[in-house]
Amino acid sequence: MGSRIVATGRALPRTAVSNHELQRFMDTSDDWIKSRTGISTRYTMRSGESLAELATAASRTALERAGLKPADLDAIIVGTVSSEYAFPSFACQIQTQLGVDTIPAFDVAAACSGFVYALTVADTSLRAGDFKRVLVVGADALSTFVDWTDRRTAVLFGDGAGAAVLVNEPGDRGILASLLRSSGKHWDLLSLRATGVRATLDSEVRRDSEDAIKMKGPELFKIAVKSMEEVSRQVAERAGIKVDEVALVVGHQANKRIIDAVAQRLGVPPEKVFINVDRYGNTSAASVPIALDEAIEQGRVHDRDLVMLNACGGGLTWGANLLRW
Ligand code: ACO
Repeated sequence: MGSRIVATGRALPRTAVSNHELQRFMDTSDDWIKSRTGISTRYTMRSGESLAELATAASRTALERAGLKPADLDAIIVGTVSSEYAFPSFACQIQTQLGVDTIPAFDVAAACSGFVYALTVADTSLRAGDFKRVLVVGADALSTFVDWTDRRTAVLFGDGAGAAVLVNEPGDRGILASLLRSSGKHWDLLSLRATGVRATLDSEVRRDSEDAIKMKGPELFKIAVKSMEEVSRQVAERAGIKVDEVALVVGHQANKRIIDAVAQRLGVPPEKVFINVDRYGNTSAASVPIALDEAIEQGRVHDRDLVMLNACGGGLTWGANLLRW
C-alpha cells in the first residue's frame, strides 16, 4: 500500500506587491531584486486577511478536485511557522473552518521545508494503514515577520497557502521515496523568535529587528544549494531511479539562482524545472504546494511522470519526495 496525491489547491492574498512598489520606501531596485533573486512580485497579507482562511480555501479546492468532502478526511497535517496561535495548532483552525471534528489535526514546524516534511509524515501514516485520506497543507505569511527596513530579507518573502489530498492506494503510482534532513547547528542562518510580532505591510512598517526574521543570506545560499542537491540525489537513489529520468522538479521557490544552481549540479535541464518564484517570492511552506498546483494547472505534469519535490529552510531543515504521478 502506498500513497498518492490525487488533487491540489492554492490560495493567495489579494494584494500583489511589485519590486517597483518596494522601491518607493526601501533602498532597493527592481534590477537588483530580479537579477539576484528572480523575483518580480509577491503577494502579501493585508490587515483583516486571515492565513487560516486562505489555507482553508486552498484545502476546499483540493478536496473538491479530489471529489471528496471534508468529512471524508482521516487527518489534517499542516506545514507552517506562521500560526497566530502557539495553540490551538494551525491544523485545528483549518479543521474547524472545514467544519469537521475529532480527526487528528497537527502542525509540523520545518519552515520552508514544511510541506515536504508534512507530506512525508502523511505518507508514512498512510503506508502504516493508520489513515486512508489525509489533507496536507503548506501555509505561511513570512512577509508579516520581516523588517521592512532590512532590504536584505524583506524583498524575498511572500504569503500564501497550498494544499494536497493524499490517499492510500495499492499500485506503483504515488510517493516512491522521501528523505528528511535537519541540522540544528545552523539555526542562526535563518531564524525568527517565537515572540515575533506580526505586522502586515499596510498596517505598520516593522523596524524592530529583534522581532523580525534574521537571515545570513550568502551562507544560507551555499548550504541550500548543496543540501538540496544531495537530498535530491539520495531520494532518487532510494527510489531506485536515475535523476535524468525525472520529468519535472518542483522545488522550493526561494531564489531562482538557488533553483538554477541545484538543477545544474543535478544535470537537470531548465525545461524540466518548474519556476514561479518570479510571481510569488518565497512563500516558505506554501511554496512547493503552490508550485505543484500551478504545474498541474499548466499541464506540466502527466500521468506516470516522475516528479521530484525538494526544499530547504530554517532549522536548518531540508528534504525531498519522489513521486510517480
Ligand atoms: N536591494 C539592493 N541591494 C541589496 C539588497 C536589495 N534588496 N539586498 C542586499 N543588497 C546589497 C547588499 O547590501 C550588498 O551590498 P554591499 O556589498 O555594499 O554591502 C550587496 O547587495 C550584496 O549583498 P549579498 O547579501 O552578498 O547579496 P547576494 O548576492 O548573496 O544575494 C540574497 C542576497 C538574495 C539574500 C542571497 O544571498 C540569497 O538568496 N540567499 C538565500 C536566502 C534565502 O533564500 N532565504 C530564504 C529561506 S532559506 C531557503 O529558502 C533556501
